[in-house]
Amino acid sequence: MKKIVISTGGGDAPGLNAVIYAVVHASYRRGWEVYGSRSGYKGLLDMDELHRLDVSDVEDIYSTGGTILGSTNKGDPFAMPVENLAGEMKVVDVSDKILDNFRRMGFDCHIAIGGDGSLEIARKFSEKGMPVIGVPKTIDNDLEATDRTFGFDTAVATATEALDKLHSTAKSHDRVMVVEVMGRDSGWIALYSGISGGADAILIPELPFDMKKVCEKIMDNALHEKDYAIVVAAEGAVAAGGKVISKGMAELGRSEVLLGGIGEWVAAEIRERTGKDTRSLVLGHLQRGGSPTTFDRLLAMRFGAAAVRLVEEGRFGHMVALVSPNMSSVPLEDAVKSRKKVDLNSDKVFTAREIGICLGD
Ligand code: F6P
Repeated sequence: MKKIVISTGGGDAPGLNAVIYAVVHASYRRGWEVYGSRSGYKGLLDMDELHRLDVSDVEDIYSTGGTILGSTNKGDPFAMPVENLAGEMKVVDVSDKILDNFRRMGFDCHIAIGGDGSLEIARKFSEKGMPVIGVPKTIDNDLEATDRTFGFDTAVATATEALDKLHSTAKSHDRVMVVEVMGRDSGWIALYSGISGGADAILIPELPFDMKKVCEKIMDNALHEKDYAIVVAAEGAVAAGGKVISKGMAELGRSEVLLGGIGEWVAAEIRERTGKDTRSLVLGHLQRGGSPTTFDRLLAMRFGAAAVRLVEEGRFGHMVALVSPNMSSVPLEDAVKSRKKVDLNSDKVFTAREIGICLGD
């Protein structure tokens, strides 16, 4: 009999519930117990936030977005913002308390589902002696050690559908529409949705862009009687010689700046340089919502089942990974070493260029 605690940390992503579903079912078949820790590690700090998960609790959750456990991206136990008696916010290390509670509850393993931030926390706990298995999640698809993270396919599908819809309105008004998509410092969502959604220009963080080239492409559309254009800008895209546009640190205890604003900036430049009627919109958290695609559900369930197999084999300190076509695993320290960037010499980038999409260079 084993006792597992599972948590979801960082930004949510479609497919989280499918992982939980698979972990609970695969554990149940082995006669093991699963507990869910609410809001990342909160359940291991405060026992009221720790709940036993039975098969009946997860019956039909695999098709739903979000996470039944809740999530947070300011819940780093090694630097947690807490309010002191004077009402001031302080950042404190509560990791020892969490490890104590984990041991007191008699858990054999913690399955941590998260992106690079949450997996780095999992790695630190593993170093402290907690048996941990990581499961890679993020719509950004920016973890080097796995071919894919779940959530990405759904985010791309949402962004592509939005581009399809924007085409008709852009065409009716002879407008330029600039769409800002998520992805942090990687251009995966922008590139995949931009190609699939017929964008005229795609701006990604991996390739600093030149507004002159973007505007030339927009004006060149007239050569084939097209008076509108769609530009996809990844939130982390940067103009050559410019800086990443961000909203600064959103909250205490958050380790990364909140990106945003590049779409509006690009739209203003296009308006000024071309005189064309231009609008911008930010797809934002729409990309994180909704039911996971079939691809993401299946990937999430495969990750969940593979995580339970790793627990059985006692291969702690590892993250499950997709090394196509198989499930594999990598040590957590390798999983968080570097972020996966779009390879400018890959066939998807060649495809974009060959079908006439401007990448701003
Ligand atoms: O990492 C996932 C992600 O959605 C990024 O693409 C985005 O930059 C960030 O999270 C947004 O964070 P928040 O949900 O805190 O606004």
